[in-house]
Amino acid sequence: MRVSVILPAAGLGTRMGRAQPEKNGTSRKQFMLLDGLPILLHTVRKFLACPAVAEIVVALRAEDIEWVREMLDGESPACPVRLVEGGDSRQESVENALAAIAPDTTLVAVHDAVRPFIDLDTLDKVLGEADATGAAIVGIVPVDTVKQVHRNKIRATIPRDHLVLAQTPQVFRADLLRRAFAKAREDGVTGTDEASLVERLEQVEVSVVLGSDRNIKITKPTDMELARLFLSEEAARPETA
Ligand code: C5P
Repeated sequence: MRVSVILPAAGLGTRMGRAQPEKNGTSRKQFMLLDGLPILLHTVRKFLACPAVAEIVVALRAEDIEWVREMLDGESPACPVRLVEGGDSRQESVENALAAIAPDTTLVAVHDAVRPFIDLDTLDKVLGEADATGAAIVGIVPVDTVKQVHRNKIRATIPRDHLVLAQTPQVFRADLLRRAFAKAREDGVTGTDEASLVERLEQVEVSVVLGSDRNIKITKPTDMELARLFLSEEAARPETA
């Protein structure tokens, strides 16, 4: 298997509560500092540590490409790390990155740049499942009861044993993912994850590999407090990082 990793990192991160990014990008969540390093770099390092990964393509806003290039050059990465310009939506950012992956890629793993706590064991499992079936994502089971509502009125209670919360990585055979993006573009569909685009092809069933609630998507200011805790725990247990 030849794995290309796509890291969408072109978001504005406005949910972090700052409308205007600072010049060096540190007010956007993907560049906020954890232990002195941008979150994106922590995420990139996780994938560089996985031997199956043959290349990483990061989608960035145009103004970030140069300084991120300089930062990553300092890493002497074990595989090529390509930087491409992202788009106005996460889907467009991933689509641009998909156009830049090596032609001999067999599996594409898409992972939110703002999830630096993916562990290698889960990554191995989801890659293995996608290699066997064509499509697999990481998910966790919800602990809360989920209600379907209309305005503030409950319309249904969705049985929890039929639910998972989709995380990333989401891994697909490259040809399948290309087809899913082409069809979504053709139909004018925007999804909040890649699996939803592959599901609508109705060609393969997407598997779910159970992950960990540590694989948080750093989105709100309070997530940074949890992130600092997880990072200090990783530092104390480097073999599981
Ligand atoms: O916006 P959301 O929280 O879904 O972002 C998930 C990931 O997608 C983040 O890493 C963010 O930087 C990225 N993204 C992107 N291009 C956009 C919007 C979000 O690469 N236009």
